[in-house]
Amino acid sequence: MLEVSNVNTYIGKIKIIKNISLKIKAGEIVGLIGPNGAGKTTIMKTILGLTKFTGSITVGNRPVTETNHRALARVGALIEHPVIYPFLTGRQNLELYARNKRDLTQLVSTLQMDSYINNKAKGYSLGMKQKLGIAIALLNHPQLVILDEPMNGLDIEATIGVRKLIKRYADQGTAFLISSHILSELQKIMTQVVLITSGKIIVDQPIEEFNKTSKQKYKVLTEDNNRAMSLLQKEKIPFILKNNFLVIDQKNIFAIQDVLLKNNIHLQEILPLEASFEELVVNILDRERGKEDGR
Ligand SMILES: Nc1ncnc2c1ncn2[C@@H]1O[C@H](COP(=O)(O)OP(=O)(O)OP(=O)(O)O)[C@@H](O)[C@H]1O
Ligand SMILES: [Mg+2]
Repeated sequence: MLEVSNVNTYIGKIKIIKNISLKIKAGEIVGLIGPNGAGKTTIMKTILGLTKFTGSITVGNRPVTETNHRALARVGALIEHPVIYPFLTGRQNLELYARNKRDLTQLVSTLQMDSYINNKAKGYSLGMKQKLGIAIALLNHPQLVILDEPMNGLDIEATIGVRKLIKRYADQGTAFLISSHILSELQKIMTQVVLITSGKIIVDQPIEEFNKTSKQKYKVLTEDNNRAMSLLQKEKIPFILKNNFLVIDQKNIFAIQDVLLKNNIHLQEILPLEASFEELVVNILDRERGKEDGR
């Protein structure tokens, strides 16, 4: 559906996006994750033909350029602030784009906008505008939908509603590229994780594969942690003490058992420790920063 190859985006003379390649197939939900200033919004704008870039971008095999947006006919997007006409009602804003009235009515009701959809949009709250922006992006069942921080300002119920909508559309074949800082929110729906930092992609994996890396640590409880720790130090097996557990790498689980056995220290518990999705992302970004600093 979307194919981005070796794209560099420049703002002025500064290269913001550095040689990014990315593919999204029909029905996939790709989560674009990265710190502030990583380039998430910029890559989205580039895909929408709104910036100068080198490399190639195609949507449904048709090229997107800065001046030719015909390939984007069936692409819906919400970038930064929704484009809403304040003196029109929410419904009138939707009617500007809607090709099918039933589609419009269904979006309004799924997003629970019925009570205010006939009011002028200038009186809408942040979350109400955000929902209207999401509805505009989803109108007419696009082939590809690009959402920049869609959960911004949404309450819990609205967040759940948007999540359901995204899933329903993806099941019907719409491809999604979604950026978010609320990682746990994306984790529930995305099929692919893309991590970006300083304009470069550092991870691009199916979510199952990404989650597997979360079981690489084990927690160990022994009958005498103090002695165990000094033995591990002597044997140069790395560990950290967390509460009353020792946390070790998966690759050392046999070595630690051997050391303990040899020294007559009984093992009370050894369990895989599941890192949270957030922890994983932070670890990867830290490691990447370390590389950049030449550490
Ligand atoms: N119009 C602009 N002029 C100059 N620099 C810009 C412009 N827009 C973005 N940048 C720079 O490009 C880089 C990427 O910005 P971008 O908005 O894409 O980040 P982001 O990942 O969306 O961040 P956030 O999570 O804060 O939304 C930043 O270093 C930013 O300073
Ligand atoms: Mg952004």
